[in-house]
Amino acid sequence: MKSRTRHPGQPAGVAGPPAGKLSLRDLRRLYEQRQPIVAVTAYDWITARLVDAVGIPLILVGDSLGMTVLGYRNTIPVTLEQSLHHTAAVVRGTRSALVIGDMPFLTYQVSAEEALRNAGRYLQEAGADGVKLEGGIRVAPTIHRLVAAGIPVLGHIGIQPQSVLADGGYRVHGRTAEEAEALKADARAVQEAGAFAVVLEGLPTALAGAITRELAIPTIGIGAGPQCSGQIQVIHDLLGLFEDFVPRHARRYAQLAQAIRDALAAYREDVLAGRFPSEEQSFQ
Ligand code: KIV
Repeated sequence: MKSRTRHPGQPAGVAGPPAGKLSLRDLRRLYEQRQPIVAVTAYDWITARLVDAVGIPLILVGDSLGMTVLGYRNTIPVTLEQSLHHTAAVVRGTRSALVIGDMPFLTYQVSAEEALRNAGRYLQEAGADGVKLEGGIRVAPTIHRLVAAGIPVLGHIGIQPQSVLADGGYRVHGRTAEEAEALKADARAVQEAGAFAVVLEGLPTALAGAITRELAIPTIGIGAGPQCSGQIQVIHDLLGLFEDFVPRHARRYAQLAQAIRDALAAYREDVLAGRFPSEEQSFQ
């Protein structure tokens, strides 16, 4: 049973957030104290529990879900219902970390009204602490609308995987002076619209550093070098669950795919050889 705290103005007997649950103010404090903000993706309950247990303060239920869990070629087929389903599971596995739901393709681009209704479902139905959406100047009015309605928004500029077909693939953004200026303008627009932080994906280190120094909100980098306010990685890359290749921006901290194969092969051999179940796993 989680212990509960009462908050100022909250009537007795009404449950507040679980004790130890982080807030955006805590994240802001890390940023102001210049502590790197550690973030990672998760897509299910058991993984969220593991992430939460080591004190990582920010979990993104990324639409990378499409590739890592659902087996699609890119993030575009991910639906709102799939994303909400996985976000709710992650929230159930989390005690402290902030959980951000990643709004899928076409759930926020059609109109600000539709974006607001869809974003609200992450908070109301899945229990998320906020949402992420891709885009700079283009989506700033939508970010503004969501923030005005009380929905915390994490921005995302640079490589935008939902635009991979239009962009013709994944490539580092901001290598020309023109692109770098456009990215700075995007970052400013996201901040001015009220985002609490912005993901910088696939940017040269110097540009990500310049944006980080210019902004007054945290930048969370992936493939954007060490000068960002924090770092985010896709958990399957970190843990060696996805083996086809290691993205240039990732580092493998474990070889879980191999560990799982070894364990399953051992189980299979034991059953075939009559070694499992033994007396210990049997009932008399
Ligand atoms: O979907 C995702 O996992 C993301 C992160 C890589 C930032 O957007």
